[in-house]
Amino acid sequence: MMQLAMFDTERPVRVEPFQSGLLKWIGNKQRFAHEIASYFPQDFGTYHEPFIGSGAVLATLSPHRAVGSDSFAPLVEIWQTLRRSPEKLKRWYAERWNRLAGGDKPEVYEQIKRSYNAHPNAADLLFLCRSCYGGVVRFRKADGYMSTPVGIHDPISPGSFARRVDEWHRRTQGAVFECMEYEEAISRAKPGDLVYCDPPYSHSQSILYGAVVQFGEPVRGDPALQAPWCPRGPQHRRHEALRRSGVRPASSRRAV
Ligand SMILES: C[S@@+](CC[C@H](N)C(=O)[O-])C[C@H]1O[C@@H](n2cnc3c(N)ncnc32)[C@H](O)[C@@H]1O
Repeated sequence: MMQLAMFDTERPVRVEPFQSGLLKWIGNKQRFAHEIASYFPQDFGTYHEPFIGSGAVLATLSPHRAVGSDSFAPLVEIWQTLRRSPEKLKRWYAERWNRLAGGDKPEVYEQIKRSYNAHPNAADLLFLCRSCYGGVVRFRKADGYMSTPVGIHDPISPGSFARRVDEWHRRTQGAVFECMEYEEAISRAKPGDLVYCDPPYSHSQSILYGAVVQFGEPVRGDPALQAPWCPRGPQHRRHEALRRSGVRPASSRRAV
């Protein structure tokens, strides 16, 4: 269930659901993206999404101008390839899908996983996230080793993936993708821009938070209060601090 507490004064607008995800990703908001976007303000400059993950919200919103970013380089390379060379993305997927279909599925999957773990790269990651167990690519904390076993499902066909690439290419035409830390991404937002944050913070194993900020003036003060998703302190305190700074805060919470 999705519970939303976004802009106090604005009513949600209807946003068409868009359910055909390109990537499976932990914390993927594809199912809820239209609901989240329905609470966004109607007028904003550039849309910033500093924890882009699977890109579900950005692609559903399909804004005129956007910066999608993440600190995970192989993931960002997938997004950059979608923009610059969608045919290459299709080829990456089809090559690996054909190998899997023509061989021993668990063994081929493990080969691709070994290849990724030896040299983390966008092409292997793309296929692993569509074919791994539960569609959730997990990494070992200590060394970033990708550990998820093969999924029991059959990954979508190259034809179906290619159609998704075309649709996602169209929906992200206003976007650029960059690899950077969220602090850098947020610091680039200008007055009137919109920032949607869905960080990997988990209050417990079962709750993920998201937040939206519309920039009025630069935020000043306690850095802990500048982050609308900050887990410390009661929510109203954080929101009040943001409002005083000219920022319009909102948050979404997913209880699963
Ligand atoms: C919960 S996921 C975002 C999910 C996304 N909303 C979706 O629908 O798929 C959080 C993302 O934050 C990224 N991340 C983690 N730490 C980060 C940091 N310090 N700066 C920027 N991105 C970060 C992770 O790589 C991950 O892709």
